[in-house]
Amino acid sequence: MAAVAGQGYLAGRMDIGDYQTLAVDLEDGLLRVTLNRPKVRNAFNGDVVRELSVVFNEVAVREEVRVVLLQGAGKSFSAGADLSWMTEQAELPAEENRRSAEEMANMFLSIARCPKPVVGRIHGHALGGGSGLTAAVDIAITTPNTQFGLTEVKLGIVPAVISPFVMQRIGVSRARVLFLTGERFDGREAERAGLVHRTVPEALLDAEVERVIGELRSSGPAAVASAKRLIESVGNETLESAIPVTAQWIADLRATPEAKEGMTAFLEKRRPGWMS
Ligand code: COA
Repeated sequence: MAAVAGQGYLAGRMDIGDYQTLAVDLEDGLLRVTLNRPKVRNAFNGDVVRELSVVFNEVAVREEVRVVLLQGAGKSFSAGADLSWMTEQAELPAEENRRSAEEMANMFLSIARCPKPVVGRIHGHALGGGSGLTAAVDIAITTPNTQFGLTEVKLGIVPAVISPFVMQRIGVSRARVLFLTGERFDGREAERAGLVHRTVPEALLDAEVERVIGELRSSGPAAVASAKRLIESVGNETLESAIPVTAQWIADLRATPEAKEGMTAFLEKRRPGWMS
């Protein structure tokens, strides 16, 4: 994918803002968020952290947005934290240094908690925080030759703020080998580890991303948002303790207008209203 010219623009009546480090556009309910520092392989600095936080906290949440796509311009998805910025942050007074790290952690959280489904198009390299971004999206799609790695130890640091997101995906055992060795691994290994969901040949990457976006678009918007919250709520429950939560969940949801429309449309052999 080539460098993306142009920043956020007014899409319909919705002002999606102006960005220095991202290209953001909205088309038919798809919010495309492109990391746009290709010269440094989309390494993220404080500007990227701030701009991604604005996009995911303020723009992606709006009703017009059905699906969010996170991708990178140029050769790589993301080479992780910008190491020039990281070294600058280390020179700050302790409290400012801590606050800037917290802003970075909250940026990952805003992606993971985005009420809209977030698809990641992961190509080229996803190293350090790039693997962290991969872990924060809902559905990550990559290619066999994409290079992943929790490479922080090679730089004398650790994958601290991304660790909860990555460990939720790959588990404690795999975290041991990948965090401790900092070794790089390819797309197939990333899929085996559970960091990404699909690995497809490079020529098919965009088609697979489009296919998944199509699946998300053809589903009830409120149902998709509810499914995302359901996963977060039930993830830590036991089979027994989940029952009051899940029973109430479906009891509430099947009484909503969207659910009634979806089920009735099936029975009447027509497309539901949200697809028209
Ligand atoms: N922070 C700051 N700058 C970075 C960067 C990072 N994380 N990753 C790459 N860059 C810069 C390089 O310094 C280089 O700058 P220059 O053109 O001024 O020399 C430019 O981006 C291109 O990188 P280069 O290494 O020449 O490109 P490449 O295509 O051969 O390799 C990578 C790309 C991503 C494999 C390689 O840059 C790399 O391994 N980066 C470090 C990734 C990492 O460990 N990140 C963890 C951060 S916590």
